[in-house]
Amino acid sequence: MARLTGKKINACVFISGKGSNLNSIIKSSRDYNFPLVIKLVISNNKNAYGLKYAKKYGINYKFFSSKKLQKFEKSCLKILKEENIKFLCLAGFMRKLSKNFINNFKYRIINIHPSLLPKYQGLNTHQRALKNNDKYTGCTVHYVSEKIDAGKKILQKKIIINNKDDEEILKRRVLILEHKLYSEAIRLLFRY
Ligand code: GRF
Repeated sequence: MARLTGKKINACVFISGKGSNLNSIIKSSRDYNFPLVIKLVISNNKNAYGLKYAKKYGINYKFFSSKKLQKFEKSCLKILKEENIKFLCLAGFMRKLSKNFINNFKYRIINIHPSLLPKYQGLNTHQRALKNNDKYTGCTVHYVSEKIDAGKKILQKKIIINNKDDEEILKRRVLILEHKLYSEAIRLLFRY
């Protein structure tokens, strides 16, 4: 993906919860060479802990209820346009978006998922990896497509599952990996 030398691309991060990936992207974005500037954070949960990172770094943020998806997407599109946002990162955003919305940002909307996709799309990825006695697990950054967690893969990192790992430990270990992977994938996408 091309960008003008030195000019950062306006991006928005969508969250629903803790926002630790949001925090890591914001931190990366403060680097002069990082391709994105996080101009906006959108949450579909007004109590999302992650909103505190938007506040901390003085980033504009919005809460829109996603109970009615059409209304939610309309509100998002309006502000995304007003803020001239060109790229979207989903980070723990727990709502499926419509095909129409995704098409507005074709190949400009990405997500992070805590599994080695195409394995374990959807929820409870760590529990499923443990149940299947998998040797490895990890995380994947991928383009968002209409089908959940099924868009084209951008970057993936894996770790060995240790005997003593339970769901909580695995979640923590993979999350640490996610924080590195998300920014790495963004840098990779805009390398030219
Ligand atoms: C991460 O594991 C992400 O991969 C998944 O939900 C979790 C969100 O964590 N989609 P956080 O909100 O970024 O801390």
